[in-house]
Amino acid sequence: MLAGISRSRAEGPLPAIKRRHEPLQITLALEAEWAECFALRRTVFIDEQGVPGDLERDEHDALAAHWISRMRGEIVGTARARVLERDVKAERVAVRKDMRGSGVGRALMSAIETWARAGRMDGVRLNAQSNAVPFYEVLGYTTEGAPFEEAGIPHRSMYKRL
Ligand code: COA
Repeated sequence: MLAGISRSRAEGPLPAIKRRHEPLQITLALEAEWAECFALRRTVFIDEQGVPGDLERDEHDALAAHWISRMRGEIVGTARARVLERDVKAERVAVRKDMRGSGVGRALMSAIETWARAGRMDGVRLNAQSNAVPFYEVLGYTTEGAPFEEAGIPHRSMYKRL
């Protein structure tokens, strides 16, 4: 449990999610499911994008809330979030390569926003890879501040007030 947000509330009804592929499930990952989330992150961020392994996994994993998206039992996406003062910070949003463009990323962000609203947070912030900025803009996030580099990849800070 984080900041008084219970698992059941966090899993409450999701707002309008486009589901081109049914049945897509998004749930808060049980600790027993974290290894699957970390394996997908490894594939996407380390193998595909070349992020160093010691940066991809960090000390926040133990305390963050992790989401897992499954289709017919198979993991197709993951993301994590943690509370930073009055906001939630979304991180490690990753969709399996062959499933991109199918609404999985939107559904993951929607689940994080639902969780943040349930905890009466002010908004959701994130550091977007520059090539993912248009994805977050579609979801209502706006860039803040100057571009910066993280793990050798250009990023922008983005924010959505809830
Ligand atoms: N540029 C412009 N628009 C994009 C986009 C992009 N790179 N990626 C998605 N969108 C748009 C979609 O067209 C869709 O808009 P629509 O509903 O109007 O058609 C909307 O954003 C939602 O797209 P969705 O299908 O839910 O996105 P996704 O499941 O492909 O997930 C990522 C997006 C970025 C999470 C996914 O591409 C991914 O895992 N990339 C590799 C890892 C990564 O870079 N993560 C982000 C780290 S900051």
